[in-house]
Order: sequence, then structure tokens, then C-alpha cells
Amino acid sequence: YEIYLDGLRGEVPSLPMTYADLEAQAQAAMSPSVRSYVAGGAGDEHTQRANVTAFEGWGLVPRMMVSPTRRDLSVDLFGMRLATPLFMAPVGVIGLCAQDGHGDLAAARASARTGVPMVASTLTVDPMEEVAPEFGDTPGFFQLYTPTDREVAESLVQRAEAAGFRGIVVTLDTWIPGWRPRDLATANFPQLRGHCLANYFSDPVFRSRLAKSPEDDPEAAVLHWVRLFGNPLTWDDLPWLRSMTDLPLILKGICHPDDVRRAKDGGVDGVYCSNHGGRQANGGLPALDALPAVVEAADGLPVLFDSGVRTGADVVKAVALGATAVGIGRPYAYGAALGGTDGIVHVLRALLAETDLLMAVDGYPTLADLTPEALRRVR
Ligand code: FNR
Repeated sequence: YEIYLDGLRGEVPSLPMTYADLEAQAQAAMSPSVRSYVAGGAGDEHTQRANVTAFEGWGLVPRMMVSPTRRDLSVDLFGMRLATPLFMAPVGVIGLCAQDGHGDLAAARASARTGVPMVASTLTVDPMEEVAPEFGDTPGFFQLYTPTDREVAESLVQRAEAAGFRGIVVTLDTWIPGWRPRDLATANFPQLRGHCLANYFSDPVFRSRLAKSPEDDPEAAVLHWVRLFGNPLTWDDLPWLRSMTDLPLILKGICHPDDVRRAKDGGVDGVYCSNHGGRQANGGLPALDALPAVVEAADGLPVLFDSGVRTGADVVKAVALGATAVGIGRPYAYGAALGGTDGIVHVLRALLAETDLLMAVDGYPTLADLTPEALRRVR
């Protein structure tokens, strides 16, 4: 009612209430290079679009006379009690999305204000030691792009532990950038301009590998980062990944049930079903369509999910198909572009309010009530 009551005083929300408006207004506010990097995806982007439309293939069946006045959206994740299943997926250029160039800090502050956890990317504008304190009481996670230099990887993870992150998400699907025509056409790869490399440039082990400091020779530092980035991990590397940390370890980019089983055998704490928002490979299954088999193979292991989530209805459907927690990427990047911390808080609160209202109207009092039986295929 908050918005309707404000309306009685003639006030209407200054930030957009639909995803279409959010996207259009944020893209208009972004610089062309940030816009193409955030909005674009792999190939002709049909997997990116299919991620979104896949949600339209499911409908929630309403139930009556079972709805309490308050819903419970809370969820247990790795021993932590979270108020809602929503989280912010790692977005490497979130730093550049905010108008002041510090979107990582904006997202961390939005996390503190909403209780929605953030997975901070390896590729941040501000180093992780400056991002983590902004989480307040909300747990934060660190996403690792695993460099080929194992000692650099170990240093990044040790720093994340020391900075107070509560879990390590290792992204597997992006050891090389995908074929992204919008960025290729403009030769746009922000990291090669030295953006979002603060975690590397501030890393003592990374710095020890360079003849000159990144401040004195940024070009050599960027080129060395490129050499480290292309690391096609194999399952033989999983014991080493596992040995790096006692924090919850989650593998991101898992869409095949056999990969879930291998991850589980390797002792991970969770799998993260995602196709990187369609940015890496075109022509693949929408991530939502991969989710049920991943959940089945996970057999009780937490399953994080993202790719294509735009509305509260999408959150509800992903939970009903078995996701333990549901992430968003581009929506909060657009929130950052329109209003920094306030813009991200707006996006998160609107999504959660819609999720909660849908559960109220359709009679699903808790997340546990959202099972595959709550959904039907839509023709
Ligand atoms: C990403 N994503 C991503 N993932 C990751 O593990 N590390 C990263 O640094 C990034 N960087 C990144 C930048 C940008 C601009 C986008 C849009 C995405 C992928 C991200 O975590 C998530 O998987 C997708 O964004 C989810 O899809 P939607 O919500 O954008 O459709």
C-alpha cells in the first residue's frame, strides 16, 4: 500500500515499475560501451531472449482460502537464514553501471538495506576489502574467475575469507569470453582497458609476478591478467578448488545433471544453474529448462539459479521448479544505472513485493508450498 498511499498525496514512484521501462530508461542513461556490454549477449542473442520467455511457458495454479495475512519467504542457505530467496548474481561491470563508477559499493549497500545477498564478482572497480564491509549484516559471497596461476587464485580466496565473505562461487562457463557481436563490433571489452581489475591489481601475489607495479605499467598488468584469465578448469581441478576453502563452495554454470553429480562427488556445497544470462553461448537451452534435471540430480543439495529472471512471477516459478535461491543480473545493473544504491534497492524491493503479493493472491504461504505441482505448462 506504500505506493498507493503516497499516490493520495499526489506522489508517484520516480523509478520505473515495469522491467521494460527499467531497461529502456537505464539503457538511455548508460554510456554506449557500458550499455552494449550489459545489454548484449552471445550470437544473435536468442538464448538470452529464450531465458526470459521460458518463464511464460509455466503458469501458477491459484489456491484459495489458504493464504495467511503474512507470507514467509525465508530460506536456509548453507546454514544461514535469509529473509528471501533473492540474491544479486555476480556482475563484473556493476562498478561501471553506477553513474559515480562505484556500483560494487552501491550494490553492497543495497544488500545491507534489503537483506538480499550479493555475489561480488572477481571483476570489481573497488577491491573486495572495500566492498565487503558495506554488506552490513547481510552475508556476501565472492565469485571467483579462477586464474591459471594457482597461487593468485589462492590469494584471492584467502582475501575473500579474511574480508568476511560467507561463500565462494566458482564460475566455470567464462574462462574465455563468448562470441558477443555487440562488443566485437565496437572492440569493447572493459577489462582490457584496465577496468574492474582492482582485485588483481591490489593482490600481493599478482603484483609479485609483474616487473613494474600496475600503477607504473598498467598495460603490462592488463596483459598479464589476460594470460591468467584463460583457465579451462577440468574435473581434476575440483579437489584443489575444494581444498582452497572451508567456506561453502558453489560451482556456477552447471546445467547438466551429470555435472551436478560430479560436483556433488567432489564435495561442493551447492550448484548454481545458469547460462550466464545468455552471454556466453548462444543456441543453448533456456536456463529455466535445465533447472528441473539439475534439481533432481542435486538430490537435496542447494541449487542457486539465474538467467532471465525479470519479475516476481519468475522468482515464484524458479522456486517452484526447485531453486533454493534465485539470482538477477541485468535488472540490478539497470537499477544501479538509474539510481545507484537507491535504484538497486528499488529493483529488489519491487521484485520482492511482487513475489510476496503473488504468493498471497495465489495462496502459497511459504516457499515450501511452491513445488512443481503448483505449476502447469502453458500452451
Ligand atoms: C555477468 N555475469 C557474470 N557472472 C559471473 O560469474 N561473473 C561475472 O563477473 C559476471 N559478469 C557479468 C556482467 C554482466 C554485464 C552481466 C549482464 C552478467 C553473469 C551473471 O552472474 C548472471 O549469470 C546473469 O546476469 C543472469 O542473467 P540475467 O539476470 O542478466 O538475465
